[in-house]
Amino acid sequence: MQSKDISQVLYTEGQIARRVAELGAAITADYAGEPAEQGIVVVSVLRGAAIFMADLCRQIGLPLEMDYMAVSSYGNGTESSGMVRILKDVTADLEGKHVIIAEDILDSGLTLERLIDELASRGPASIEVATLLRKRRQGQAAIDCRYVGFECPDEFIVGYGLDYAERYRNLPFIGILRPDIYQ
Ligand code: IMP
Ligand code: MG
Repeated sequence: MQSKDISQVLYTEGQIARRVAELGAAITADYAGEPAEQGIVVVSVLRGAAIFMADLCRQIGLPLEMDYMAVSSYGNGTESSGMVRILKDVTADLEGKHVIIAEDILDSGLTLERLIDELASRGPASIEVATLLRKRRQGQAAIDCRYVGFECPDEFIVGYGLDYAERYRNLPFIGILRPDIYQ
């Protein structure tokens, strides 16, 4: 069982579902007045944010496109390398669209900083960030996240999309990984 590798559950399946529903309702209210031609494109950052995005989009009561990017920043370790490389780009034309980036977790902020710069160069009407988790830590890039699910402790956490070496993504809850697993 993967759950024996978790030292503490931070957010249960039910807590996550309730918070994601609140974020979806907030997005629905904020974008409801936008003209239809300025459509919404939710861009998820593979692979960690895929589960969050799938749940979030079903809580947004407006037409939207779903698109995906893949970037590499961590390899199989637990520390940010500082290097963010785009491995897969979106296929949607973002010109004049309202882009919402769905991220799993904001840690150093380097990944989002790079992505926002990149997507801003495509001429969207707006860009906002919806991150499920934001770590409370020093030295985080100043990223303006309009939608934040939970402010979480500065620990290595897994579940609900978040992995360690590609494992634990399918845990339905979010928890702290026992340090002896990765040390
Ligand atoms: P940042 O560039 O340091 O903000 O890192 C962002 C990415 O690192 C996230 O999208 C995650 O894929 C990964 N990441 C950061 N912290 C954690 C963690 O605690 N557990 C699992 N993945 C993490
Ligand atoms: Mg990620």
